[in-house]
Amino acid sequence: MRQLDSDLWVTEAPLRFLGLEVGARMTVVRLPNGDLVLHSPVTLDGALRSEIEALGRVAYLIAPNKLHHLFVGDWQEAFPEAALFVAPGLEEKRADLAVTGVLGDQPETGWAEVLDQIPLPGFPFANVVVFFHRPSRTLILTDIAFNVGAENAPMTRLFFKLVGVYDRLSPTIVEKLAIRDRPGFRAGLERVLEWPFERVIVSHGAVKESGGRQELERGYCWLLGR
Ligand SMILES: [Fe+2]
Repeated sequence: MRQLDSDLWVTEAPLRFLGLEVGARMTVVRLPNGDLVLHSPVTLDGALRSEIEALGRVAYLIAPNKLHHLFVGDWQEAFPEAALFVAPGLEEKRADLAVTGVLGDQPETGWAEVLDQIPLPGFPFANVVVFFHRPSRTLILTDIAFNVGAENAPMTRLFFKLVGVYDRLSPTIVEKLAIRDRPGFRAGLERVLEWPFERVIVSHGAVKESGGRQELERGYCWLLGR
């Protein structure tokens, strides 16, 4: 794992989506009481498990959108005491998982001191819930923007170059087509952009260390109308 801030870590694992090696990133937030929040868990192996256990007690697992659920079951098995919160709709899609709650407009009391959240309406393909880690001014998002660049696999780089969003924080044509309720999504995104974030952690592509707010706004100018 890679430490980004005093209570913030990320780790990456290989993951293929629609034939492309896009990779996946998990974010780990340590709460003021020492407990851990695991956001968008990736493949679990013994080495990662040891690293996590050395950081603190796994209190929460978050599946932040309808597509990021593949490894959650393994983590629940490894940490049965952890509470699982999922994006709206995932509780039905993965009825086999023991879901503690569905992520709503209000952050859970257990993490509200440092993490805020906004479920984005109008994008039913993924139902993304976006998070803001206040102490490190970090936005944690999945699948509404990517930052694919030099560190990604050749075919993935080619694809993102072809769709014109290479090496910058931006959605692709896929998200543009899949947003069903544009006013609803825009209203949610406007609220996200009110958070004073610098860093943006994406699931696929590189972490954007600074200037993330401006770049995300630019990536969505076609929707925001500015
Ligand atoms: Fe994803």
